[in-house]
Amino acid sequence: MDIFEKNDKRTHYCGTVTKELIGKRVCVLGWAQKQRDLGSLIFIDLRDRSGIVQLAFDENTDRKIFDDAFTVRAEFVLCAKGVVRERATVNKNIPTGDVEIAVDEFKILGKAQTPPFEIVENSDVKADLRLKHRYLDLRRPDMQRNIIARSKIVNLTRNYFNENGFIDIETPNLIRPTPEGARDYLVPSRVHNGKFYALPQSPQIYKQLLMYSGFDRYIQIARCFRDEDLRADRQPEFTQIDMEISFTDEDEIIAINEGYIKYLFDNFMNKELTVPFERITWRDAMDRFGSDKPDMRFGFELKDLSDIVKNTEFKVFAGAIANGGSVRAINVKGGAKFSRKEIDSLTEVAKTYKAKGMAWLKMVNGEISSSYAKFLADGENKAINEKMELCDGDLLLIIADKNKIVYDSLGALRCECAKRLGLLNPNEFKFVWVTEFPLFEYSEEDGRYYAMHHPFTAPMDEDYEFIDTDPGRVRARAYDIVLNGTELGGGSIRIHTTEMQEHMFSILGIGKEDANEKFGFLLEAFKYGVPPHGGLAFGLDRLVTLLLGLEDIRDVIAFPKVQNASELMSKCPSFANPDDLKELGIAVINTEEE
Ligand code: AMO
Repeated sequence: MDIFEKNDKRTHYCGTVTKELIGKRVCVLGWAQKQRDLGSLIFIDLRDRSGIVQLAFDENTDRKIFDDAFTVRAEFVLCAKGVVRERATVNKNIPTGDVEIAVDEFKILGKAQTPPFEIVENSDVKADLRLKHRYLDLRRPDMQRNIIARSKIVNLTRNYFNENGFIDIETPNLIRPTPEGARDYLVPSRVHNGKFYALPQSPQIYKQLLMYSGFDRYIQIARCFRDEDLRADRQPEFTQIDMEISFTDEDEIIAINEGYIKYLFDNFMNKELTVPFERITWRDAMDRFGSDKPDMRFGFELKDLSDIVKNTEFKVFAGAIANGGSVRAINVKGGAKFSRKEIDSLTEVAKTYKAKGMAWLKMVNGEISSSYAKFLADGENKAINEKMELCDGDLLLIIADKNKIVYDSLGALRCECAKRLGLLNPNEFKFVWVTEFPLFEYSEEDGRYYAMHHPFTAPMDEDYEFIDTDPGRVRARAYDIVLNGTELGGGSIRIHTTEMQEHMFSILGIGKEDANEKFGFLLEAFKYGVPPHGGLAFGLDRLVTLLLGLEDIRDVIAFPKVQNASELMSKCPSFANPDDLKELGIAVINTEEE
């Protein structure tokens, strides 16, 4: 017979056994956090997802129970019943610290070996070990809080969109490739040897088709799969809060999604949030912050020095401009306290963004030291210092290069300096909409244009006339929502006519035949009445991470992958059974060593 019986049901979660229950009999279930043996007294801290309560065993306890309690080790699974009483020594650090349970019924439901790491809050155990034993890692109170918080956010999300008339619709996971710009995960077909499904990079095409079907307002909490290089804010499989609306425009989509974020702040964060959020164009974001996902919690905005130094004798500056680039700078207020070594390490940061070097100047007690001032004329130095509003304690950082390198490196230096100066407060939430993205991105490598968002994004009306002659100048009806330097979500108004969609494909170098092969069903659907529509998708993992003040999305995902896209606990991916491969008509050419 199973030791766990019908009447062993929990009456209270451990963390809820407080003073009000003194004198009452309770049943608690959970894991032993620790056992303390004081000879004639034994205490066990019992833990479940709500917290910890103390179990007490003393001379009045039944001998068999006392002996069992003696054998308990960390992570044993226990069932304890008894009367709640006041504690002799109060523990002010926990909500149940005034009381203990005088145990009169006791069962060890499961024994445990010594775990590879202690189950405690904010453990500094190596990530790999945590992930290998994720079921233990998830027992830690901070991980439990994160996962429970994610569940609350998901529920609030469903409530908000439901209250606003959105219909929750699932879309398939075995599909034709959707073009979101990453590599696809492919799934071989057994029935159709040699053919493959792709896992969706997003439900993009399907949600558009649902608009064509008349569902008008769609929402899905959707799993997405992208085979791309991983970072702290990227996983190969992740979750989107994916929405789409018919008969809409940018303002409505922005307002509905601002309403959603405000709803989360009201109901989850218990914090006042002011809407509407600031909006800036992509052009301004690049020019002022060097990034299309600007962190607006601090200043250090970029300034263009090109006009001042275009004729300078200093070749590094003049040369960059002559080559079609620019010379731009940031003023890091308070940065003058960085040592030479620290400035050198900032140069290294700039170099990772392909900058050839970094020029700097700092002023301490009216004294200027600089890597470049001696190469410039007095007038040029004066003009730079004036433009940068140089004051005592300031550090100027200058990059002269191709524009992309200038933006990327100064954008990164801004954030790095803010981090080093302790300006990044995770409890400050600065949302911003970035609008008017370019429709296309030119790849020097491939000598062709790519869609910056995806090929279904509509161009801005006022730029459409340039789509053939100067595609690079055409702006898109696309918008991203950015929080504290992270892209939380993105979306666009979509193309809804055959002519424009075919035109778009042709500029992207997708010929008629190719377009028909890949997106024929979409083009066919255009023939039967398509409403104007648009939408947006948030990255749920990123949203939860930032709302909880965390840095790594793995902390809000129960079973994440590591940097090389493997999962350390179940050890996937793994080799396939040769018979299965044969059935799928697949021969593996290169296998990596296990
Ligand atoms: P986009 O590609 O911008 O748009 O994705 C939307 C949001 O999803 C999140 N995200 C990720 N999160 C974790 N790991 C990843 N690998 C990852 N990739 C993306 C980001 C991002 O802002 N179909 C469009 C949306 C639309 O147009 O409606 C789309 O997928 O937070």
